[in-house]
Amino acid sequence: MPKFDLTLDKLVSLAKRRGFIYPGSEIYGGLGGTWDYGPLGVDLKRNISNAWWKRFVQDRPDMFGLDSAILMHSRVWEASGHTQGFTDPLVECKKCKRRFRADQISGKCPECGGELGDVRPFNLMFKTYIGSVEDSSAQIYLRPENAQGMFVDFKQVLDSLHPKLPFGIAQIGRVFRNEISPGEFLFRVREFDLMEFEYFIHPKDWENFFEAWLKEISSWLDFLGLDKKKIFYHEISDGDRAHYSKRTVDIEYQFPFGMKELCAVAYRADHDLKQHQKHSKKDLTYFDDETKERFLPHVLEPTFGLDRALLAVLTEAYREETIGNETSKGSASKDSAVGEKRIVLKLPKVLAPYKVAVFPLLANKSDLVKKAEDVYGELRTKFATAWDDRGNIGKRYRAQDEIGTPWCVTIDFDTLSNGTVTVRDRDSMKQERIKVENLVSYFLSNLA
Ligand code: GAP
Repeated sequence: MPKFDLTLDKLVSLAKRRGFIYPGSEIYGGLGGTWDYGPLGVDLKRNISNAWWKRFVQDRPDMFGLDSAILMHSRVWEASGHTQGFTDPLVECKKCKRRFRADQISGKCPECGGELGDVRPFNLMFKTYIGSVEDSSAQIYLRPENAQGMFVDFKQVLDSLHPKLPFGIAQIGRVFRNEISPGEFLFRVREFDLMEFEYFIHPKDWENFFEAWLKEISSWLDFLGLDKKKIFYHEISDGDRAHYSKRTVDIEYQFPFGMKELCAVAYRADHDLKQHQKHSKKDLTYFDDETKERFLPHVLEPTFGLDRALLAVLTEAYREETIGNETSKGSASKDSAVGEKRIVLKLPKVLAPYKVAVFPLLANKSDLVKKAEDVYGELRTKFATAWDDRGNIGKRYRAQDEIGTPWCVTIDFDTLSNGTVTVRDRDSMKQERIKVENLVSYFLSNLA
């Protein structure tokens, strides 16, 4: 495969051009650290989060879903330690007054060369007010993680569903962090979706479960199509871990801007339940019917940033290739662009926003268009299906390649005479003729 340089700019440009991701509030000059998911992006994102939910919640007897409120009592964040400790070190330039994360710069102001002030902690939680009175008693926060919802509702899940240890509570939801320096596209943003679960265990079992979750995560990253060679399991050393954690592993991925955290697993012991029990004065213990033991369960926390997962998937899928001869063999819908370059997103098929695109060979032949509309109407009841009748076939292939559509179906004159269509494969660019009535089973068997 020919080599190409993948820069973040190329990904940002493709994502905008093809309707995956747009800069937030763009017509007003943008809003730092926010991005909008366009029609293609929203489907890619939903396909990732649905697959996560199916794998980690729906397919498992030991996992329970939750969708807790974004707005939580301010005492939640006192108990969890966020009010005090959810901070990044901030420095301000004495000259231009710009602010930076102190651990990301050294020396002078990177903007104007001015002298920097003292480092101080900056709390990343967004503040707001609940109700009509804007005083300190009404001040609350937009949640910076989902995890506390699972701890605060732990007892309610126990009382309503009576799960036995080990079991987990999982949640996918929007979180907010007022990052000092958002950047690198979706990597560091000010609002994002987190997919995470708290897996409650007896403390004696934590090491085995930690290893088991690392394996599960590795298999999830395979499913996302990420190359194992680009993944690094970073054991966080004693001094860098939270004091209550005996083990934390950051799972890093080789993004275009370097090896950076993609997701993580932390052993949080009973820290959170203990804190909430203390602050709420409610009993949050678990009673084991068999051993007659009453205790606070310990917890393992695998956490996955959905937007970072999507950025990793896009990074991995992006290819620039030269179109070869073998793709152009005697079909009515042949790809005439031999020798030209193409950009293709080799997304895992199950994650692709569209699975199939349908084209009439010529947009001005009503019998071809009518037949193509019939095929399109049938396929779109089964799969996410695109329609394109603009430009020539080569141009349509290029457009579908760039959004990662695994198959393009062309209705041509042979379709009218013998009921077959051309199915062109995104990755090999090879074409084969398939009977219209066999299309659904062909795609289903190749999607599995
Ligand atoms: N409950 C644990 C927790 O929130 P975290 O390491 O602060 O842990 C979890 O965040 C995950 O959220 C990270 O592994 C990363 O994937 C994602 N993440 C964190 N900050 C982010 C940001 N500003 N923008 C996008 N994703 C972020």
